[in-house]
Amino acid sequence: MAVRINDTAPDFTADSTAGTIRFHEWLGDSYGIIFSHPRDFTPVCTTEFAAVAQLAAEWTARNTKVIGVSVDGKADHEKWKRDIEAFGGAPADFPIIDDSDLTVAKAYDMLPADYYLPTEGRTPAHSATVRTVYIIGPDKKVRLTMTYPMSVGRNFAEILRALDAVRATDGVPLAAPANWVPGQDMIVALSLNNEQAQERFGALDIKLPYLRFAKVGVK
Ligand code: BEZ
Repeated sequence: MAVRINDTAPDFTADSTAGTIRFHEWLGDSYGIIFSHPRDFTPVCTTEFAAVAQLAAEWTARNTKVIGVSVDGKADHEKWKRDIEAFGGAPADFPIIDDSDLTVAKAYDMLPADYYLPTEGRTPAHSATVRTVYIIGPDKKVRLTMTYPMSVGRNFAEILRALDAVRATDGVPLAAPANWVPGQDMIVALSLNNEQAQERFGALDIKLPYLRFAKVGVK
């Protein structure tokens, strides 16, 4: 069963490079990003993890904890972290889950349709996870999901932008237009009439009766 937007993010207990993680407890009051990658010691994955490590200060500034997942074991994750830092120049200080028993991959639907589980001799290659991303709110609800194939590395600048949009619109009658970036005007929800919108957000830029922009600060 797919994990959908507004589902409660599946909770789990798992071993990781930061020790045992009880996921909801570990998230606390933060936003969270849980993201899977196919395998340790692979080229695209190394560039992705380096990109996440380089953004450490950005995640912290957004009260967001990041955690990686793959079906490789913790010992491999620890060794691979050295390669990630050597390549990207920033330590991968976020935890990586040892999901060798596929608990998290199955709970979050991170496996491709054709994954294969032989009864004997299973290796991580049989059940490599695809490139999923889940942004989770402080209330533990899933706010955003995305899935990329093995052959396409993710754009973590876009994930940061999407996180900014999620945070800016959480519990606020606003929405981010196409290609929005922080600092730009946002769309006022149709639940507010013009008078209510002006009272809440100040002057509106009304392009169409249903497309009204307001200047807003970003959380
Ligand atoms: C990669 O990250 O480059 C990769 C992952 C899985 C299979 C092949 C390549």
